[in-house]
Amino acid sequence: MSAPPIPEIERILFTEEQIERRIREVADEISERYRHGDLKLVGVLKGAVFFLTALARAIRIPVKIDFLSISSFSTRPAAPGVVRIAKDLDESIEGEDVLLVEDIVDTGFTARYLLQTLAARGPNSLAICTLLDRTPRRIVQVPVEFRCFEIPDRFVIGFGLDYKQFYRNLGYIAVIKPDWEQRGFNL
Ligand code: IMP
Ligand code: MG
Repeated sequence: MSAPPIPEIERILFTEEQIERRIREVADEISERYRHGDLKLVGVLKGAVFFLTALARAIRIPVKIDFLSISSFSTRPAAPGVVRIAKDLDESIEGEDVLLVEDIVDTGFTARYLLQTLAARGPNSLAICTLLDRTPRRIVQVPVEFRCFEIPDRFVIGFGLDYKQFYRNLGYIAVIKPDWEQRGFNL
């Protein structure tokens, strides 16, 4: 592969082809698991948008989609933030099979908060599907039902993941250089 076009990138972790192939595999699992269900994909803006659309197109059963966005506040850099919903879902999830679609589960705070909040709304079932899972940094345990890739303890960009809101549109997922990395984790 030719050199990465962006100077902040150290190396490409997953190419566009690898990501597409893996999403198809996970989409097959989901299609099988929910074939008798009433599946709604709930995406967390903005990071999960790219993954959710790719996943939805690879799923072979009818799905609904909805989005929410969260904001997190932390009192000091790199401290686990307090999460709240900034933009809520458009529709009720009562009685539905809900798959919460995340770009990455890192410390687990965001996922745990969203699971608790959505569970209180009476879905028929609720599970997480994440593009990336970084278990070495997990602080609170959350059940991750479907994951595309497990990643090492490095800050990544691309396929929805940002560094200061940039690079979400990269088709691949890349690790950024160590001198940028600390700033990434401290955003
Ligand atoms: P958690 O609450 O610590 O699990 O944080 C998850 C959120 O942090 C994700 O939805 C991302 O928005 C952000 N995040 C965590 N790690 C990275 C990364 O490596 N690159 C870009 N965003 C990240
Ligand atoms: Mg982010």
